[in-house]
Amino acid sequence: MDKFVIQGGNPLNGTIATSGAKNSALPVLAAALLTAEPVILHRIPRVRDIRTMERLLVDIGSEVVEDGETVTIRTSKIVSPEAPYELVKTMRASSLVLGPLAARAGRARVSIPGGCAIGARPIDLHLQGLTKLGATVSQEHGYVEAVAPGRLRGGHIFFDRITVTGTEDILMAAVLAEGETVISNAAREPEVVDLAELLVKMGARIEGAGTSVIRVQGVEELHGAEHQIIADRIEAGTFVIGGAMTGGDLTVTECVAEHLGALIDKLSAAGVKVSVIDATTIRVEPGGTILPVDMTTEEYPGFATDLQAQYMALMTQADGISIITETIFENRFMHAQELRRMGANIRIDGRKAILAGRSNLTGAEVIASDLRASASLVLAALVAKGQTVIDRVYHIDRGYERIVEKLSGVGARISRVE
Ligand code: EPZ
Repeated sequence: MDKFVIQGGNPLNGTIATSGAKNSALPVLAAALLTAEPVILHRIPRVRDIRTMERLLVDIGSEVVEDGETVTIRTSKIVSPEAPYELVKTMRASSLVLGPLAARAGRARVSIPGGCAIGARPIDLHLQGLTKLGATVSQEHGYVEAVAPGRLRGGHIFFDRITVTGTEDILMAAVLAEGETVISNAAREPEVVDLAELLVKMGARIEGAGTSVIRVQGVEELHGAEHQIIADRIEAGTFVIGGAMTGGDLTVTECVAEHLGALIDKLSAAGVKVSVIDATTIRVEPGGTILPVDMTTEEYPGFATDLQAQYMALMTQADGISIITETIFENRFMHAQELRRMGANIRIDGRKAILAGRSNLTGAEVIASDLRASASLVLAALVAKGQTVIDRVYHIDRGYERIVEKLSGVGARISRVE
């Protein structure tokens, strides 16, 4: 099992480029199932979750051709409308094939994703939505099956809580359903908008993506398309926080600054010298402060839950008390225990983490528990005195492309050991 070895103390200086968004790549790859024609996708990050999704598409019947960060998918016909347990247990986003398979093949059989480190993460809202579109949903032997003899028919889905992949799943089912579908209380994340842009290029009729109400007029079939996905706002945000923590002069390029508004506002309030250079460039400069500023995670455009762990690492360096409230997932403070081992002063009280900074972190042997928790441990290790060894870094390989190379390129002393 690979480990990272990090020597703390170096500021991050220089320029770091952002990769394509993992959480955009996953739904757009699944969307390719909706047509028999080729779908060409650019800027697909080479990370583990993407490889898992590509394997799943091949099992379903797609031909997948990779050329660097361009992936071409052609699904002439659906051979097996299934997502087996051994794949789903490694990547719960496999549930994103539910909608496309129900729409294209009239049947989908997906292993019910187990919980994961950050919470139970049920898919009940996905299933309720598919039922509203005319599918018959049943569950047995750890699998959920959605059957829609003939064509799905449009309906009004009202999500009683905002779900990102739930919105994406239903959107992909609705584009081929008969008649109009309205999705109320839809997720507004940029990745939902990116998916909708691809679907429209494929011939779908969608209005309101990016707002809480999405309207879809179903069509008979979709054609192939070519699309470049958006930058990964969570990767970019992780690096911006790293620049702030280490007191470096760091420029993050090829991102979408607009997608990081909540983070930039929060860092500015903490006295960090962060600025938007242009639409795709954010710069952090030394000479600022790190004041304790409370933060509550919210659905987009609020502060992203996927940046909560990284923000907690930053707040260990703030002089004073700060309170972080996690409203999206019920168990997303796994990194706190590991940060404590490095000397952080953090108390967990339900959905709230209370930090008393500033802590002089020291290097330690720590264990990654989930994708974004791993990122917060890397950030903490960059400022800790001495050496940190992070175990189980396969978690970080799920969602950060070439993170060792990227961080080494701006002065971090980080290496991967087998
Ligand atoms: C997406 O997960 C992201 N993953 C997550 O990123 C991200 O943390 C999350 O959205 C929130 O922004 C992908 O896009 C592949 P949700 P998703 O459905 O769609 C509850 C990362 O680190 N819920 O918006 O699974 C759920 O338990 C990952 O890249 C139900 O109760 O999240 C959670 O508490 C981690 N029933 C809340 O809603 C459902 O049917 C929001 O979940 C669906 C969700």
